[in-house]
Amino acid sequence: MEAGMLAKDCKRKVILTGDRPTGKLHLGHFVGSLQRRVQLQNSGQFDEINILVADDQALTDNWDNPKKVRDNIIEVTLDYLSAGIDPDKSFICIQSGIPALHALTFYYMNLVTTQRLSRNPTVKSEMLMRGFNGSESEDDNVAGLPAGFFTYPVSQTADITAFKATTVPAGEDQMPMIEQAREIAHRFNTIYKCDVLVEPDILIPENAAQRRLPGIDGKAKMSKSLGNGIFLSDDAATVKKKVMSMYTDPTHINVADPGHVEGNMVFTYLDAFLRDDSQFADYLPDYKNLEEMKEHYQRGGLGDMKCKKFLLKVMEDMLQPIRENRAKWETNINDVYDILKAGTDHAVQVTNQTLHECREAMQINYFDDKDAMVKSWESWLNESHTKN
Ligand code: TRP
Repeated sequence: MEAGMLAKDCKRKVILTGDRPTGKLHLGHFVGSLQRRVQLQNSGQFDEINILVADDQALTDNWDNPKKVRDNIIEVTLDYLSAGIDPDKSFICIQSGIPALHALTFYYMNLVTTQRLSRNPTVKSEMLMRGFNGSESEDDNVAGLPAGFFTYPVSQTADITAFKATTVPAGEDQMPMIEQAREIAHRFNTIYKCDVLVEPDILIPENAAQRRLPGIDGKAKMSKSLGNGIFLSDDAATVKKKVMSMYTDPTHINVADPGHVEGNMVFTYLDAFLRDDSQFADYLPDYKNLEEMKEHYQRGGLGDMKCKKFLLKVMEDMLQPIRENRAKWETNINDVYDILKAGTDHAVQVTNQTLHECREAMQINYFDDKDAMVKSWESWLNESHTKN
C-alpha cells in the first residue's frame, strides 16, 4: 500500500480514474494504468470503483470533431471490458452525462489562478503538441489557447472530487493533475470551513518501464498520433509485424557483437511485460530469467530475432485473452451501452450528493431551507441598520 493511504484507512476507499475517448487504448495505457485498475478491482480492497470516459475533456481539443469522440466512447469501453474491467465490480460512466461535474468545475474556477494553471507541466507539453502556443489568434485554433483546454485540470478536479475519490490509478503524466486536485480540494475545505472534499492520492506503476512506455520506434512515449503504438485491439499479425520492426540497438550488427539493453525497446518491453520467470521455462529455456538473458545480449552472441520472438510470446500471453474477450463484447454492443448507462446513472446520484454538500458549505443552497434564507437576510438587514 502507498504511503499516505494509511491515514485514510477509516474512510471509504473509492477509485476514480479515466481516459479521454480520442482513440483506441494502447500498451502504454495498459501498463501505465489499466492493468493496475483491474488488479485493484480484483483485490476487493475498494468500496467503489468508477471509471470515467472523459468525453467533455476530449472535446477541449476536439471540439470540431465530436463524432470522433462519440465513436471512441464505445471503443474505449470495449478496451476496458476486454482488459478485465468487470461491470459487476466497477462502474463505467460518461462524463458529459454527469451535470454535477460542470457545476463543480465552475465553482472550482474561483479557487485557482490562471498563473497556477499555466505552470502545469502536462498542459504545457500538450499545448506544444497541439500547437496551442498561447498567442492571440482570431482565425482558428492553430495558435490560440482555448480557455476550455487551458482549464481542463479544473474540470478533472471536479471529476475526481465529485466521487470523493481517495485513489486515482493513472499514468505518471497525470501527477500534476492530481496535485492540482489536492490543492483545490484543500482550498475549498479551508475557505468554506468544511471537510466535504477528499484530497486524492495517485497510484502510478512501481516499474519504471511501465511508467513511461516508449513507442516501438524508441523515440518518444507511445502515442497514437506518433504512430509508434501497439493497440490492445491489434490482431496477432499486426502485433507480430510491429514487434519485428522494433528499434533495438543499431550498434549490434552481428549476433556475436556485444549489445546494449538500455534504450533497446525489446528489453524495455520485456521489463514492462514479462509476467514471471515461468515464461522463460515455457518459451526460452536457455535462460532462467531476464537478468541472464540481458547478460548474454550484452556479452554478445544473442541475436535480435531470438529476443523478438520471445518478446512476442510474452506479449501474446497477455494480448490473446484480451482479444478473445473483445470478440465476445463486440457481439454484445447493446450490453456495453447498458453498462455505460447504468454507470452514468450511478455517477449522477453520487456526484449530485457531493454537489449538494458543496453548495451547503458555500451557503448557496437557497432552496433547501426557506427560513434560513430569510433569516440570513434579516440579520444582514439588522447589521446594516446598526452600522448606519
Ligand atoms: N486526463 C486523463 C487523460 O488524459 C483523463 C481523465 C479525465 C482522468 N478525468 C480524469 C484521469 C480523472 C484520472 C482521473 O488520460
